[in-house]
Amino acid sequence: MVEYRAPIVVVVGHVDVGKTLLLDKIRNTAVAYREPGMITQHIGLSYLPWPAIERYAASLLAKFKLSGKIWVRGFLMVDTPGHAAFSNLRRRGGSVADLAILVIDALEGVEEQTKESLFLLKSRGIPFVVAANKVDKIYGWEPHPNFAFIDSYEAQDEAVQGRVEEMIARIAGELAEHGIEADRYDRVADYSRQVPIVPTSAVTGEGVADLLVVLAGLTQRLVRDRLAVGNGPGRGVIMEIKEEKGWGTTADAIIYDGSVRRGDRIAALGLDGPFNTTVRLLVMPKPLDEMRDPEDKYVFVDEVKAAAGVRVVGDSLERAVPGSPLIVVRDEAQLRSAMSELSAE
Ligand code: GTP
Ligand code: MG
Repeated sequence: MVEYRAPIVVVVGHVDVGKTLLLDKIRNTAVAYREPGMITQHIGLSYLPWPAIERYAASLLAKFKLSGKIWVRGFLMVDTPGHAAFSNLRRRGGSVADLAILVIDALEGVEEQTKESLFLLKSRGIPFVVAANKVDKIYGWEPHPNFAFIDSYEAQDEAVQGRVEEMIARIAGELAEHGIEADRYDRVADYSRQVPIVPTSAVTGEGVADLLVVLAGLTQRLVRDRLAVGNGPGRGVIMEIKEEKGWGTTADAIIYDGSVRRGDRIAALGLDGPFNTTVRLLVMPKPLDEMRDPEDKYVFVDEVKAAAGVRVVGDSLERAVPGSPLIVVRDEAQLRSAMSELSAE
């Protein structure tokens, strides 16, 4: 039986549009509807299990007749504070990101870095949803904390609804200039032709349910084949190299296929070419609901399966460059082929 991993979802957009706050809101929502021990956070990564989202978005799922029809297990969300982070998400033939949330300020529309994000998403062929964020700043908007957008919209007066429609039409018009057809998400019939726009507020939580449900829809319709994973040796990408007191050099990585185990040999790319080393420790963030003392943030694990973010501790990791592939090798033949693959990078 084929197993499907959680999609890796990058959050991109212009500065200050609310990427980080939106992720915080999504994560806290998931914690509130918790799946005990499941929601984790580190290196700008959060893993959100679907059951928590399902409880949160129950009435919206019922409205769209989607209850029980979602097989997505969850989302691995990646905050990308700048283009470097996004470019580091490389993998052969494309990007580690399966999907993206392009956050646009509802009042500002498409800005300079929005265009750069659009260009990157298009050139890497990453399907995306637009979060038209800060909808609470639309003149006259009555906040309904944590409501689905469509429910809150229904409760606004007509003048406000008109302003929301104008905002959506303006963003759709600006996106059209870049060759992208977009519309309010509940008017999109075919995700492969039109980009859905979901008005959100990272402050009030409005639209967060809609955003997550649309992401699940995009996953099932557009990226399913990318998510089939094997049980074999893992593959990932190194996002960041850090010196940690007591541990030595650590590499924060995103694993998108197979698994990595303590004691595994891994190959990666250094400034001076490919090298390999042994995984001394695998460190995972402690689930948020179990994190009582802020000092006590981590757990050590024996194995990590895709999709996940993990901190790898091992000798000579200081040689690795961010953006390098991380390839687990479990025999000599795999080591040779990984080293030659890395030389060709
Ligand atoms: P960079 O990482 O610097 O690119 O910014 P960001 O996109 O992560 O934005 P961030 O989440 O840091 O939010 C920027 C500012 O906008 C903060 O002051 C937030 O409080 C505010 N903000 C974010 N989302 C919303 C929203 O939905 N409504 C309102 N009213 N303010 C928001
Ligand atoms: Mg940010």
